[in-house]
Amino acid sequence: MRITMIGSGYVGLVSGACFADFGHDVTCVDLNEQKIEALKAGRIPIFEPGLEVLVADNARAGRLTFTTDLAPAVANSDVVFIAVGTPSRRGDGHADLSYVYAAAADIARAVKGFTVIVTKSTAPVGTGDEVERIIRETNPAADVVVVTNPEFLREGSAIEDFKRPDRIVVGLEDDRAREVMTDVYRPLYLNQAPLMFTGRRTAELIKYAGNAFLAMKITFINEIADLCERTGANVQDVARGIGMDNRIGGKFLNAGPGYGGSCFPKDTLALVKTGQDFETPLRLVETTIEVNDRRKRAMGRKVISAMGGNVRGKTIGILGLTFKPNTDDMRDAPSIAIIQSLQDAGVRIRAYDPEGMEAAKTFLSGVDYAADVYDAASGADALVLITEWNAFRSLDLKRIEQAMAGNVFIDLRNVYRRKEVETAGLNYVSIGRPQ
Ligand code: NAD
Ligand code: UGA
Repeated sequence: MRITMIGSGYVGLVSGACFADFGHDVTCVDLNEQKIEALKAGRIPIFEPGLEVLVADNARAGRLTFTTDLAPAVANSDVVFIAVGTPSRRGDGHADLSYVYAAAADIARAVKGFTVIVTKSTAPVGTGDEVERIIRETNPAADVVVVTNPEFLREGSAIEDFKRPDRIVVGLEDDRAREVMTDVYRPLYLNQAPLMFTGRRTAELIKYAGNAFLAMKITFINEIADLCERTGANVQDVARGIGMDNRIGGKFLNAGPGYGGSCFPKDTLALVKTGQDFETPLRLVETTIEVNDRRKRAMGRKVISAMGGNVRGKTIGILGLTFKPNTDDMRDAPSIAIIQSLQDAGVRIRAYDPEGMEAAKTFLSGVDYAADVYDAASGADALVLITEWNAFRSLDLKRIEQAMAGNVFIDLRNVYRRKEVETAGLNYVSIGRPQ
């Protein structure tokens, strides 16, 4: 199969490299010249474990190429994926579909012969219909079928998620496209991944309903964590205890500082807007958004209260800035709201993140960046672990205690056990566990 991927970001690049690894002939297109130049030179513009080797191997084998020139790539393809961003639209929270629609018009002008156009970007119900309308209006002679194929990979484990998905969802209403999509994913369902065909609108809604459900699950356990703190129960045991019920499932029940990232926040918001548009309010999702936003700010207050209340002029070391480990993505990271609320209270911030410090500079101001964990702890009155990178899981706590000016260690990801931290001479505060 000859595949073009429009948009070479987290999803486009990972999907493109994986499809090439399955033997397809893939061209990754992006508007951003710097990104394409970097990729041509073998430099990966994002941090994603395993991606550099996967891209290099497939580029060397001639199955994966990069270009800013959309037209020839599209003209030579059997399948064209749209994997451009769908951020929140400034002001109203609807998904901004301008990149998707611009890509659709570009594709329409370039397409030759029968081509399947696949929306992989997360886009609300009805987007497939609009993509089809744009293509037919721009090029009435185009022989195309428009399909929706949402992506469920997670950053940080994107390659494994793409290659071994729980399911592949394909929304279409056309038999020719069904055959093509079956060929595209043949290596995956030979890997036992169920391929689910459904209508286009249903596929669009599956993506949002899935993300909203996961966001609700996290938010639920976060509220239970608050209750555990008040009642002396242990949230990790509660999560284990409920998660062992197969109807609930144990995944995504880790209490923390609130969910962040480039997807849950914007997708829950967009789903609420769709509900409003169709006069079907989604109250659980609305409340999830509200509770999660409040939680991120509450984490700042939790830190301040752990330090005794008056923090003006104090220094806090931060471990982890990205929204989760194994990514350099700072979009909607909980660290942003937490650090801002601490800065508002007059605190000086010294932060360290293994991969996210460069990206963090565009999201945060007035932060001192440290060379490593111990440098972040140096002279700090308190140390706050926000992102559970593996590098933070077995710290030399005694060395940290010696480096710090104060002795408060706040673990917002429940990485440590109270006893080991207190043995090192630190006061330990975590999430939803007995004090
Ligand atoms: P991203 O911002 O990392 O990448 C998007 C890329 O598209 C950018 O490089 C941009 O320059 C390029 N682009 C925009 N318009 C273009 C055009 N007309 N032609 C060529 N290139 C163009 O975004 P992402 O994180 O990869 O997300 C893409 C979509 O996938 C979103 O809808 C997102 O919700 C969804 N998604 C993301 C993830 C994830 O983990 N990041 C997972 C599943 C689904
Ligand atoms: C999420 C979904 O997991 C993917 O299936 C989906 O494809 C993607 O969004 C998307 O649509 O873009 P991602 O945002 O990369 O993937 O990362 P997650 O692992 O889901 O984490 C999201 C946030 O939830 C992070 O801030 C993480 O720390 C938080 N989280 C996750 C918790 O606080 N507790 C948990 O138990 C799990």
